[in-house]
Amino acid sequence: MHEHQSASVSAALLRLVREAIARNGGWLPFDRFMAMVLYAPGLGYYANTGRKFGHLPASGSDFVTAPELSPLFGQALAHQVAQALQATGTDEVWEFGAGSGALAAQLLGSLGASVRRYTIVDLSASLRERQQEALRRWAGQVAWADALPAQMQGVVVGNEVLDAMPVQLLHFGAEGWQERGVVVDNVASAGDPDRRLGDHPASIANHRSASDAAGDGAAFTWADRATTLSAPFESPPPIGTVTEVHAQAEAFIATLAERLTRGAAFFIDYGFPQAEYYHPQRTGGTLMCHRAHCVDADPLADLGLKDITAHVNFTGIALAGQDAGLDVLGYTSQARFLLNCGLGELLQGADVRAAVPAQKLLMEHEMGELFKVIGFAKGGEFDALGFSSGDRSHTL
Ligand SMILES: C[S@@+](CC[C@H](N)C(=O)[O-])C[C@H]1O[C@@H](n2cnc3c(N)ncnc32)[C@H](O)[C@@H]1O
Repeated sequence: MHEHQSASVSAALLRLVREAIARNGGWLPFDRFMAMVLYAPGLGYYANTGRKFGHLPASGSDFVTAPELSPLFGQALAHQVAQALQATGTDEVWEFGAGSGALAAQLLGSLGASVRRYTIVDLSASLRERQQEALRRWAGQVAWADALPAQMQGVVVGNEVLDAMPVQLLHFGAEGWQERGVVVDNVASAGDPDRRLGDHPASIANHRSASDAAGDGAAFTWADRATTLSAPFESPPPIGTVTEVHAQAEAFIATLAERLTRGAAFFIDYGFPQAEYYHPQRTGGTLMCHRAHCVDADPLADLGLKDITAHVNFTGIALAGQDAGLDVLGYTSQARFLLNCGLGELLQGADVRAAVPAQKLLMEHEMGELFKVIGFAKGGEFDALGFSSGDRSHTL
């Protein structure tokens, strides 16, 4: 996006958020704020025309994902998808959150005619256009859906989709857990009477000033409210701890479990089991923003111009699936999963230019260890290739 487009996207989102705060009595829970700034039609980070995915900031991109980094990612995952299609007797693939369409191209290129239909479900209309462009070659096989159908069969994949789902923010103070939300910063907005929309109810405590959100002096800031929510720490964490809970991602898995009548599902994302996520030393949570390949911790600034994500609590995801009727096939690191799926052999056959970026998929300090894979089955378990060694389900 050009600079003037970026400024108008941010300013329009700012107005939208201020209106939502006003309609909601002066305070907006963080998950609703996150949903707006990521997905508001035409404006949110994933809905606007910004480039988002790519290798380097010079391309105008903000971050790189595994399928953008190397096609060997999708080629290795294809071995798992092929085995799951065969084991479940299905012939459809469903991809949630397909981004630029890179993973779909890799899977379709490897799986060929064994996939009767490849359906993409993505919240973003602008990304759908990019996906259509990228997948023109497979036009006869690819379909798009706006939401999950009432019933579905096949193998589901999702790379970095769970981390893009809005989270609720919680703060642990002297009063116990409170939910953290967003209010208009009346101090920063005092120059403009029109901005004094969100006089804070007395029960709200402000925590810090946000930076200028639209370059025009308007801003948001944090405020906490009483809540019945809590985070599953084993014992009370240090005062001041901020963390996230993932109701939306868990509800998504539960809905998927109900609607998938037969098949399997594999989700790849960064995150940890619950005991590691809600560890007393993790006092700042995992919420972060990505812009131009830099990371920051201020989601209240530059609305619509940066990605906002939180790590995945894989224990919560596993329980949500199990409670709704899925069997957990396995859980392991991305490195272990991809090696089990034959990435080592693919690397041996690759030239140096292809092998170097693909190594990052495996390296512990890159994507190999922080990223995990969880697999589910519906209608009968099978020994999934990706978890054939190094399964860590017992840590969930
Ligand atoms: C971080 S991007 C990952 C894109 C791609 N999978 C990749 O690895 O490059 C997150 C994607 O998930 C999509 N998304 C977020 N929530 C979704 C949901 N509930 N259903 C479908 N897609 C969703 C976003 O629009 C975006 O395409």
